[in-house]
Amino acid sequence: MAQQQQLVRAMAAASRSLVAGWWRGASCNATRSLSSSSSPSSSGEVRLGGGNGEVNLYVPSESGAGPAVARLELDRPAKRNAIGRALLSDLELRTRELAALCAEDPARVRCLVVHASEPKEEAAAVFCAGADLKERKSMSEEEALAFVTRLRDAFLAIQRLPFPTVAAVSGLALGGGFELAMACDLRVGCDKAVVGLPETRLAIIPGAGGTQRLPRLVGVARAKDLIFTGRRVAGKDALDMGLLDRYCGGGGGGE
Ligand code: COA
Repeated sequence: MAQQQQLVRAMAAASRSLVAGWWRGASCNATRSLSSSSSPSSSGEVRLGGGNGEVNLYVPSESGAGPAVARLELDRPAKRNAIGRALLSDLELRTRELAALCAEDPARVRCLVVHASEPKEEAAAVFCAGADLKERKSMSEEEALAFVTRLRDAFLAIQRLPFPTVAAVSGLALGGGFELAMACDLRVGCDKAVVGLPETRLAIIPGAGGTQRLPRLVGVARAKDLIFTGRRVAGKDALDMGLLDRYCGGGGGGE
């Protein structure tokens, strides 16, 4: 029981600090400076990198080495973490690696926080800008369908991970970005968090689980309102509507 409480505290602290700009702190610098795959870091984490380098996975270096919290980092800041084929491949790969690791050693990871990498100073705060619309434009109908099916399966794989998952919504989470956050068990946001499913404004639908997960979160009527209008909901309003579960304002305080 005490161990459980310790984990919940660690999970809450990690997600709070991630949404409140923890990445500017020393521990993140330690993990970011790692260049090779599976390198141990001074912060007690190991980075599983490789692939296209657009999604990184940080896991505790061993069971019992501090809080058993892993981090899945979206790292395509120049494109605001838009989900293209390369990022999707990395997401699939990292999720498979995490599931395999946990099958081998169930005590190693007890919680996952999904978050965005450090934004450039001049950039808007973005968790994930959704599907890569430029790539989408060049896809045939068949290719677009295959892509959305893969995206849906990737989010389902995250939903099925055998421990609590938390999305640290540090900024805009739109379309596929919000669908990814909804595939997590909980969403923690700050004053910069803005969520929405704007697909209908682009004559498409939230096809990667949004039409199913949103009504489960906020009820059918509110989900229809958000999907039909494509409107965005920010910060505290998102918390009040149930689109976020925890809100830490701008300072990372609160429980
Ligand atoms: N797909 C593809 N590329 C995207 C993208 C998306 N969903 N969102 C952002 N980008 C790209 C931009 O095209 C730009 O690329 P470029 O430098 O090659 O021109 C780069 O990311 C930066 O975007 P920019 O708009 O200049 O950054 P910003 O910080 O001013 O604004 C957003 C960020 C997220 C507010 C803005 O990019 C935006 O509204 N994106 C669309 C989000 C959306 O509608 N998603 C729904 C998908 S269904």
